[in-house]
Amino acid sequence: MCGIVGYVGARPALDVVVEGLARLEYRGYDSAGVAMLADGALATAKRAGKLVNLREALAEEPLPAGTLGMGHTRWATHGAPNDRNAHPHTDCAGRVAVIHNGIIENFAALRTELEEGGHKLRSDTDTEAVAHLLEDELKTTGDLAEAMRRVCRRLEGAFTLVAMHAGDDDLVVGARRNSPLVVGVGDGENFLASDVAAFIAHTRDAIELGQDQVVELRRSGVTVTDFHGRPAETKAYHVDWDVSAAEKGGYDYFMLKEIAEQPRAVADTLLGRIGADGRLTLDEMRISDQELREVDKIIIVACGTSYHAGLIAKYAIEHWAGLPCEVELASEFRYRDPILSRSTLVIAISQSGETMDALMAVRHAREQHAKLLGICNVNGSTLPRECDGVLYTHAGPEIAVASTKAFLTQLVAVYLIALYIAQVRGTKFGDEVFAMIQLLAKMPEKVDEVLGTMEPVRALARSLADEKSVLFLGRHVGFPVALEGALKLKELAYMHAEGFAAGELKHGPIALIEPGLPVIVVVPPRSRAVLHDKIVSNIQEIRARGARTIVIAEEGDTSVEPYADTLIRVPAVPTLFQPLVTTVPLQVFACELATAKGHDVDQPRNLAKSVTVE
Ligand code: M6R
Repeated sequence: MCGIVGYVGARPALDVVVEGLARLEYRGYDSAGVAMLADGALATAKRAGKLVNLREALAEEPLPAGTLGMGHTRWATHGAPNDRNAHPHTDCAGRVAVIHNGIIENFAALRTELEEGGHKLRSDTDTEAVAHLLEDELKTTGDLAEAMRRVCRRLEGAFTLVAMHAGDDDLVVGARRNSPLVVGVGDGENFLASDVAAFIAHTRDAIELGQDQVVELRRSGVTVTDFHGRPAETKAYHVDWDVSAAEKGGYDYFMLKEIAEQPRAVADTLLGRIGADGRLTLDEMRISDQELREVDKIIIVACGTSYHAGLIAKYAIEHWAGLPCEVELASEFRYRDPILSRSTLVIAISQSGETMDALMAVRHAREQHAKLLGICNVNGSTLPRECDGVLYTHAGPEIAVASTKAFLTQLVAVYLIALYIAQVRGTKFGDEVFAMIQLLAKMPEKVDEVLGTMEPVRALARSLADEKSVLFLGRHVGFPVALEGALKLKELAYMHAEGFAAGELKHGPIALIEPGLPVIVVVPPRSRAVLHDKIVSNIQEIRARGARTIVIAEEGDTSVEPYADTLIRVPAVPTLFQPLVTTVPLQVFACELATAKGHDVDQPRNLAKSVTVE
C-alpha cells in the first residue's frame, strides 16, 4: 500500500528518492516523507497529502545535500494521515530513521514495553516502535543490519522496513516479510524500492528478495541474509521494460494511456503462446499435462477487478475444459471451509502479485495440498513465487489505480488456460481449440476498433456527470462486465453504481428504477439467441419504468434499437470473448465522467494500487 525508496550512491539522494516516490505515488498518497544523511546527521521532511506538498515544503526549507537517503509515500493504516504520522519515524535521539509498508500486529505490546523503558513515542503509528527498538538494539550491536534482524524476529504481521542510522553513511538496511521490496543494482550505487518503477530510470538490473530477508545496501554492493544472519538465496533478473513505459507519454493521465495501450497489451499477452501448428504452449505453467488431467475442480481466488476476470474465467473453463469451477473473493476464501484436495487446481489472479488477501488465499490452498497457478502482471512479485506455476500477463506497468489493461490481459490469460486445459484433457477437438485460438488472435484488432469509436461515449459520460446513480446490467459473461463497469465508476467518480445480473433485476433491484435513472445494459451476441432475447425483454422492462437505457450491443443488432436511448456499438465477436470489447466503453465512460467531475483518475480518494494489508 505504501511506496518505499532507498538509495546509496554518488548522486544527490534527495533527487533520486523524490523522483522514485513520484513513480510510486500510485501505491498510496495520504502523506509523503524523506530522510537524508549528510555529515553524520539525519534530517527528515514529511507532509500530509500528496507528494506535491512535500516538494513544496522541501523548496521552502531544503534538506542538507547527501548521497544516502530514503523516502515513503503512505496509505494510512495506524494513525490519521497527518504530518505527525507521516514516515520516516525516528528514535528518541533522532539518529535512526525508519519507513514501513504493512502492519505490525503486535505493535501495541511493543509500544507499551518501549514506553515503560523510557522511550518517548511521538506518533500514533505502528512503525515508530521499530525506530525505538532499533535504537535499543544498536546500543548492544552497533550494527544496523544486525539490529534490524533482531527487531524483525520480534515483529508479527506483514512488513517491509527500510532504515538508516546517523552512524553509518554508507548503509541503508531493508527487511521484508509478506510485503514487497526489490533491490536495484547499479554501478557504485544501489537502490531499494517497493516496485522497480522507482529506480528503472537508473538501472534495469534487479534482485528479488525472498520472505524474511534483510538486505544491506552499500555503494560497493548488496548483502542479503535471513533474519538470523545466514546468507540468503536471492534471484537476480533484468526488467524487460524501460522508463518510458512508466511515464505518461503525452497523456493527461496514466489511465488514459493504459486504456489506449490495450490492443498492444492483449497482443503481447498472446505472443509466443500460440505455436506454428496452432497448438498452445504455456511453458511457464510448470504444472504438467498429467497433473492437469488429474484435476477435478478449479477454484479461482482474486480481488476487485481481478475477481471479475475470475468470474469470466468460470464461463470459459466450464465451457471449454468441462471442469467445475468456483470463483471466490480471496478475502473470504480462508475464512470458510473450502473443500480442496490434491486434485484441486487453485488459480490466483492478481495484477500486482502483492495483494495480501490473494496471497493469504494461496497460502491457505497450499496448506490443503491444492495445485496452485498464478496469473500475474508483475515479474518478481510474491504471488508467482508462491504458486506451482504462473502465467504472466504482458500488460506492462499499470500505474493508474483503476485497473484497465491488466484486466483485459487477465481475460486473455484465462482464455489461454481454459483452452490449454481443453487441449490437454481433450474436452474439445483439436480443430475446435484451434478455431478459438485463431479468433482470440484477432482480438487486439477488435479492441483497437472499439477505441476508435469512443467519442460518443465520452460525450455521454460528460452529460451524466451530475447523476447520483448508475446501474449496470448483463447476463452470462456480460454480468461480470456489468460488475466491472460499476466498480470503475465507484472508484473513479465516487458515485453510487451497481452491477446486476439482468435476470435478477425482477427479484428486487428493479425497485431502484425511477424516471431518468441511467442504466447501462451489456447485450450478449445475437448468436446466443435465448440470452439475447431475454435481455432485450429486460431492457423493455426497465424502460417501461422510466429508466434511461444505454445499450452496448454488437454491430448489426437492430433488435435493440427501439429500446435504446443511447446505443453503443461494439464489434461482433464470439460470446466468451465479448468482455474484451464491452469492457472498454465502460472504462472510457468512468474515466471521462470522473474527469468531468474534476477527479484525479490516477489517484482516486482512499485507494491504493496494491493492497498489501488484509
Ligand atoms: O493487484 P491485484 O490484481 O491483486 O488487485 C486487486 C484489486 O485491488 C484491484 O483490481 C482493484 O479492485 C482495482 N483498483 C480496480 O480497478
